Amino acid sequence: MAYDETSQQKRLAARLIGVGGALPKQVVTNDELAARLDTSDEWIRTRTGIRQRHLVSGDEGAVSLARDAAKRALENAGKTAADVEAIIVATSTPDQVFPSVAVRVQAALGMERGFGFDVSAACSGFVYALSMADSLIRSGQAASVLVIGVEVFSRLLDWEDRSTCVLFGDGAGAVLLEKGAGEGEGILSTHLHSDGRLGDLLYVDGAVGCCSGKVALKMQGREVFRHAVVNLAAAVDEALETNGLKGSDIQWMVPHQANLRIIDGMAKKLALPSDRVVVTVDRHANTSAASIPLALAEAVEDGRIKKGDLVLMEALGGGLTWGSALVRM
Ligand code: UT7
Repeated sequence: MAYDETSQQKRLAARLIGVGGALPKQVVTNDELAARLDTSDEWIRTRTGIRQRHLVSGDEGAVSLARDAAKRALENAGKTAADVEAIIVATSTPDQVFPSVAVRVQAALGMERGFGFDVSAACSGFVYALSMADSLIRSGQAASVLVIGVEVFSRLLDWEDRSTCVLFGDGAGAVLLEKGAGEGEGILSTHLHSDGRLGDLLYVDGAVGCCSGKVALKMQGREVFRHAVVNLAAAVDEALETNGLKGSDIQWMVPHQANLRIIDGMAKKLALPSDRVVVTVDRHANTSAASIPLALAEAVEDGRIKKGDLVLMEALGGGLTWGSALVRM
C-alpha cells in the first residue's frame, strides 16, 4: 500500500537507518559443481549469471547468519540491540520448526525486551517482512524494527538435480528501520501479492508429520521465469504509479537475485543503466529472502547507494508471491 499521510502517520513513518550482510565462509564455484554433476560453468553462467555461491559448513546456520547480519546493520546504524523493539525474520529455512529464528536472534543479540517472529513468503520474504515492519512502526506498535532475510537453501536442495541445485546459495541480510522519517524519506510504499493457484510451480515438500519422502526444492523453472517477467513488470508499474513517479526517477534497483536475465529485463523496462542496478547473483547465486538485503548492504557499504537515493526493490518467489518496496534512503 501507499500512504495518504496525516501528520500523525508522517511522524511514525519508517526510515531505513542501517544495513548489514553475512555470508558463509565456504565458496563453491560452478566448476566445482560441474566436477560432480552433469552441468558446466558455461551453462550456469549463460542461463543465470551465477559464477559461485556461498554454502554453510560447520556450525553455521540460519540463526548465526541472521545474528551476524543483524549485528552489522546495528553497527552501521550506530545503534545497539537495546535500541531494537522488534525483529522480523523472512526465511523458509529456519534451524528449528520453533522457536522462530527471530527469537533466537533476539537472545543472541542479548535483547531483554521486545518481540520477534518469522515470515514465510519464500523469495519475496524480505519485501513482505519490510512491509510488516513498516506497518508496525506506522501503527505505533514498535519504534524500531530489525528486518532480516536469511536462508540456508543448501538444506532444501537435491544435490543430484542439476536443474535446481546450481541455482541457490546461503546467506543473510538485515536492515534496521526506525520511526520518524522526514518528508518523502524512508519507506514510501510496499505492494504485496500472491497467487496460491501457482503454488506447484515452486515448492518444497516435507512439513513435520507428513510427506515422508525426501525434502527437496522442485521448480518448473521456465514457467516461474515467465511469471516473474510479467508480474515483476506489473509490480514495478504499480509502485511507480502509486508514487506518481516515472522509471527515470528511480536511482537504484535492488532486485531479488534469481537470474541475471530477469534482472536485466527489469532494468531495461525502467531504462536504468546497468551501473544503477545492484547485482550479486554472480557471486551469491539465489539466496531467496536474503538476496535483497544482502545486495543492499553491499551497495551501501561500498558507497554506491547514498542517503537520499531512491531505491526500488522487487521480488518474486514460491507461492507464487511477489511484491515491491520503494525506499528513499
Ligand atoms: O527465486 C525464485 C524465483 N525463481 C526464478 O525466478 C527462476 C526462474 N527460472 C529461471 O531462472 C530459469 O528458468 C532457469 C535458470 C531455472 C532455467 O533456465 P532455462 O533457460 O529456462 O532452461 P530450461 O529449464 O528450459 O532448460 C534448458 C535445458 C534443458 O535441456 P533440454 O530439455 O533442452 O535438452 C535442461 O535439461 O537445459 C538443461 N539443464 C541443464 N543443463 C546443464 C537444466 N539445468 C541444467 C544444468 N546444466 N544445471
